[in-house]
Amino acid sequence: MTGALAGKVAIITGAGSGIGRASAIRFAAEGAKVVLGDMAASVHDTAAMIGDAATAVQMDAGDEADVAAIVAKAIELHGHLDVAFANAGISGGMEGIFDNTVENFTSVLRVNLIGPWLMVKHAGKVMADARPMPEPAPVMMATLPANAPITLLLRRCLSRRRQ
Ligand SMILES: NC(=O)c1ccc[n+]([C@@H]2O[C@H](COP(=O)([O-])OP(=O)(O)OC[C@H]3O[C@@H](n4cnc5c(N)ncnc54)[C@H](O)[C@@H]3O)[C@@H](O)[C@H]2O)c1
Repeated sequence: MTGALAGKVAIITGAGSGIGRASAIRFAAEGAKVVLGDMAASVHDTAAMIGDAATAVQMDAGDEADVAAIVAKAIELHGHLDVAFANAGISGGMEGIFDNTVENFTSVLRVNLIGPWLMVKHAGKVMADARPMPEPAPVMMATLPANAPITLLLRRCLSRRRQ
């Protein structure tokens, strides 16, 4: 297989739709093996669109055991890991802070902030321990308004701020 990502192995969360699905298709077209995570069953549809280069895992990106498991799956299948794209995310809805609840705010932080942190923890460890060490590529999905937060989308902005 030729392509810019030939020989690479990538985990992509939130691959059941949108940017994650499009990224998965593009990564595979460039020669990568992709291990796709999503809470939604549509992650299996994404894998079917790609074929043999893709494996689907239904998982919760905010759950440590699930994140550890998808990293372990990538290693079990392919022996190494080059890219971890922590893309799964939720907006939490459009209510402003006065109508928002702690439960809703916490759920957004869990997926958008703790989720990428878990991916760095588990995928980053595998990459850091690998010999020879790959050029590791943890990729965190962010959002443009996170750098200029607006009150209406405060929870999404706070949890998606690029460092
Ligand atoms: N679309 C945009 O304009 C935009 C802009 C900036 C950032 N983003 C971010 O990009 C990412 C993808 O956005 P999108 O537009 O493709 O959204 P989307 O809703 O189409 O895709 C998000 C996917 O994440 C999955 N998901 C949600 N919670 C999950 C969880 N706990 N575990 C596993 N999977 C989970 C959903 O099932 C869905 O398939 C999100 O993190 C979003 O915040 C999107």
